[in-house]
Amino acid sequence: MNQNIQNYRLTADQLDQELSQQNPLLLFDLRPKDQFENAHVKGSVHAVCDVQAKQTIMPKIPQNVKIVLISEPEEVTRETAQMMRTFGLDAYYLEDGFYSWKGKTEKGQTGKTVAAEHLESILDQVFLLDVRNEDEFSEYQIPGSVNIPLDELFDEKTLEKIPKDKTVVTICPHGNRAMVASFALTRAGIDSQTLVGGLAGWNQILKPITASYKPKVIQVQKIGKGCLSHIVESDGEAIIIDPLYPFEKYIDIAKEYGFKITKVFDTHQHADHVSAARDLAKKVNAELYLSKYEGYDYDAKFVEDNSVIRFGKSKLKVIHTPGHTPGSLSYVIDEKYVFTGDILFVESIGRPDLRDEAEEFTEQLYNTLHEKLLPLSDDTLVFPTHHGDNVEATNGAFWTTIKEAKKLPWLDISRQEFIKRVVAITRPRPMNYRKIIAVNKGELELMHSEIPDLEIGPNRCAVDAS
Ligand SMILES: [Fe+2]
Repeated sequence: MNQNIQNYRLTADQLDQELSQQNPLLLFDLRPKDQFENAHVKGSVHAVCDVQAKQTIMPKIPQNVKIVLISEPEEVTRETAQMMRTFGLDAYYLEDGFYSWKGKTEKGQTGKTVAAEHLESILDQVFLLDVRNEDEFSEYQIPGSVNIPLDELFDEKTLEKIPKDKTVVTICPHGNRAMVASFALTRAGIDSQTLVGGLAGWNQILKPITASYKPKVIQVQKIGKGCLSHIVESDGEAIIIDPLYPFEKYIDIAKEYGFKITKVFDTHQHADHVSAARDLAKKVNAELYLSKYEGYDYDAKFVEDNSVIRFGKSKLKVIHTPGHTPGSLSYVIDEKYVFTGDILFVESIGRPDLRDEAEEFTEQLYNTLHEKLLPLSDDTLVFPTHHGDNVEATNGAFWTTIKEAKKLPWLDISRQEFIKRVVAITRPRPMNYRKIIAVNKGELELMHSEIPDLEIGPNRCAVDAS
């Protein structure tokens, strides 16, 4: 063995000594997760040393922090330590791997974690520490979170910004950087929890809220993205409008209330999230309804302006409401509710989704709003498919009325002024929108496990929502 390798090999006794002296070090266990969870060196973190980790985590670890890698067999860690040293890191590996370790071990996940569903219920009691880079953070973040990039957490001065009287929850895209961040915090004596699955996991939570009765409307909110979907029930029969992944949630809700899901609708071809309409309809053997004015590579019942669909004791009427997409539909139910997709929101109006033809679509948007939606009766409840960050919910649900919508600044200006202002909007499109549209059209098949990553990011559907 050459001298070089000897220099960064650590025996189990040496590691035990380092730990007992409480020397600050980062302990990374590179074994498969199930082996790690079965037993690992107390205080170690499960780590995956893939391309992503090389790009996102390694450059953030300061060169003066001692790192010890554990694996089985030791060759893996020896090579990784060697590679990490080429990045200038102070990396070592445990000689003879995990099974040489006779000291304290523990089971399960590393450190403390918090599940996304639970975090949602304690949001106001915790300090949300987002450890991504500034550019990633500025794109999209959990409201109320504070950004301190991972590499800065190794700096004592930065740590002073973290309050001592609140539980710290570390956040990153998938939980890997956040895990290292929690480790850095523990070294500094700060107790923290890691958000399981990171922002990708946070983005997949669906939360149901009953918004209205007769017919019953349950608004199912994807809280991480501000996406809204709806279950409308009449006489035990339920329809779902704009369902989201994971679609099993709608099946659970229907079971809980004793509803039968018979019909599934999309208002339009979404660009910011993957529609679960096709999969949900297939799973529960329901009819799938889509816009006749949009192209899909799969079969459905295609509906158009003035189509009428009955369910339970209710009547759904289709209105063609172009402007966001050329084929956008709105659904009026029992002349009491209107489901407006991305045309009319609580706080704003939709954006024309085809920028190349923005002017033409902005005209359509104006006509749709003034000639098709605002003429509905003032007390019609408006349920959109998204909401912005700063929109107040009413008893937990996001809706407005036609009467209130008429007061929106966007709807109180001349046609000319409206077109001028809307066309001038240059907000970025939703992240990954091309791929999402291709999936929603049926041109591209996706594994369900790929959806959280594709959907990461804000919805950006309104003209002025943040
Ligand atoms: Fe949309």
